[in-house]
Amino acid sequence: MLPRGLDPPTAPAIASAGASISDLPRPGNPMKPSTLLMLLALTATGPVAAATAGKSSPGPGAASALPKVVVYKDPSCGCCGNWVEHMRKHGFAVEVHDSADMTAVKRSLGVPAGKASCHTARVGGLVVEGHVPATDVIRLLAKPDGAVGLTAPGMPLGSPGMEMPDGRSQPYVVERIDRDGSTSPFARH
Ligand code: CU
Ligand code: CU
Repeated sequence: MLPRGLDPPTAPAIASAGASISDLPRPGNPMKPSTLLMLLALTATGPVAAATAGKSSPGPGAASALPKVVVYKDPSCGCCGNWVEHMRKHGFAVEVHDSADMTAVKRSLGVPAGKASCHTARVGGLVVEGHVPATDVIRLLAKPDGAVGLTAPGMPLGSPGMEMPDGRSQPYVVERIDRDGSTSPFARH
């Protein structure tokens, strides 16, 4: 008699009883479906989040937030390439285009007359003219405040990409370009 009561026939009965009890809104049991949903959500978003993170962060830390620099330069100018390397060292991805008519590029991007240098770059909606230090670009990107961009007019000795073998340098001013074409000092080096 006793063994019969605990034998297989009763096991499914207990299981089905458990199932029907779990349908009731008792504390503890309703957790099961929601836990399952959470797990499903985790497994669904996990790989997606990882893929997105991989796409948007090619470099470590803050570098991943930096926009790409698109540089236009005369193919025969060497210092522009040195500035490109300077930007890359500071975490920027840089795309380089050779242009035979840099005057036209500068005019179309809003570099004021008389404030030109050699290469012209576009980064995050800003124009960067000449050998502007990456740190200045990063500072303006953080708070553009309506600016068109920055320029380091001329070719200041010792500026990024214009380092002299003998270490010569000259003081220079990076200027902020505003929409009306006016400029104002942004950084002194
Ligand atoms: Cu140059
Ligand atoms: Cu150059």
